[in-house]
Amino acid sequence: MNKFYHIVTYGCQMNVHESEKIAGILSDMGYVSCEEPENADIVVFNTCCIRENAENHAFGNIGMLKKLKSVKKDMIIAVGGCLPQQINKAENLHEKFPYVDIIFGTHNLHELRRLIELKQGRKKTVIEIEDSEGEICEDDRPLRTSYPNAWVNIMYGCNNFCSYCIVPYVRGRERSRDSKKIIEEVKGLIKEGYKEITLLGQNVNSYRGELTFPRLLEKIAQLDGKFRVRFMTSHPKDFSPELIDVMARYPKICNCLHLPVQSGSDSILKAMNRKYTAEEYLKKVEALKKSIPDCAITTDLIVGFPGETDEDFKATEELVKKVGYASAFTFVYSKRDGTVAAKMENQVPEEVSKRRIIELVELVNSQTRVLSATYIGKTIEILCEDYDPKRGLYLGRDEYGRMGYFESDEDVVGQFVMMKVEQANGVSLSGRLVV
Ligand code: 5AD
Ligand code: SF4
Repeated sequence: MNKFYHIVTYGCQMNVHESEKIAGILSDMGYVSCEEPENADIVVFNTCCIRENAENHAFGNIGMLKKLKSVKKDMIIAVGGCLPQQINKAENLHEKFPYVDIIFGTHNLHELRRLIELKQGRKKTVIEIEDSEGEICEDDRPLRTSYPNAWVNIMYGCNNFCSYCIVPYVRGRERSRDSKKIIEEVKGLIKEGYKEITLLGQNVNSYRGELTFPRLLEKIAQLDGKFRVRFMTSHPKDFSPELIDVMARYPKICNCLHLPVQSGSDSILKAMNRKYTAEEYLKKVEALKKSIPDCAITTDLIVGFPGETDEDFKATEELVKKVGYASAFTFVYSKRDGTVAAKMENQVPEEVSKRRIIELVELVNSQTRVLSATYIGKTIEILCEDYDPKRGLYLGRDEYGRMGYFESDEDVVGQFVMMKVEQANGVSLSGRLVV
């Protein structure tokens, strides 16, 4: 008889990939994936705490399993990831949801098998939160779920302590994986047929293996085979001319860059501890555009950081206009206990932040729409990722990260195809295949 697992993932790509590692552990233990928690013998919540709403979302869904657990007593509920890694949160979780069986932190993920076995032998909740990062565990064999894309961690943790951000507290200090191991992993993935490799790290530019990040990227871009490589995230302070140079020289490296600016105001950037000014950021963007004129630049923006005035917000809008982002993630500042910004005075009232975010989203969307319209009539190369049965269309992305929809008689998932763009609908494009 099969045993089933169901994983619920919140947050960033790092978490998406870590859920693949959790799936790998569970499948080694004989579990098989299932769509509905009702059918599962184990439900794992892989949580996020970057903003309050991410946390509330997880709390809500864990709460919803109470009823199911009361009738399905043998079902194991495990909660892991960033949320319980925060100070006192594991105890909090345990108090609030006593029916949760296992609570584990970000540094305990590779021990999930042991934790499950421990729980099977006892009634008490298993709570293990390791507070130091320890050695990088190279044993995981992720069960990848995002073919033809593959996520590859190159480093873990963050040393930057941006004043609003909880990540350094829950993910620990920066640790880089061995360059040779990364290259071996990528080689293996290409051999298996993966067509897009995304190198992951909180700040890939401070990767310090035997190679620097630009050299590592270069080595990967020199591997044989038809594939693309992307990377995220880059901290602007560490984004270097060497990296621009490598990006420009190798066609396998996608001409796109996620370069979170957060704000366009120097005083806010200073209070955020970002270590660059708006001008320095713009200079780097200029250098990038000079070498790679068609590079799609994306970003993260926060509104309502403590002390943000209308002028500061205007400076953000000005910067957005100057860069001309292909797209941007926009966030309302969320106070995270334990961070430096949480203790700052001048927290911005909710209605002000709301007004600003609406304005900013409109600005970003209008830029995206203008850029999308320039695609009409062009033929672009798309890596087909999936089939959408509701729309009856295949979908995939071009190297710039634009989503394209098209019809095809053949199953082309995992293939590079050429699409002539006929329509632009906001962020996505649609068209027809050409040979
Ligand atoms: N509030 C709002 N947004 C945040 N981010 C990180 N911490 C916070 C916070 N406390 C955003 C940043 C970062 C992205 C991953 O999440 O923009 O780049
Ligand atoms: Fe958070 Fe800043 Fe580190 Fe990014 S660089 S994870 S925003 S502390």
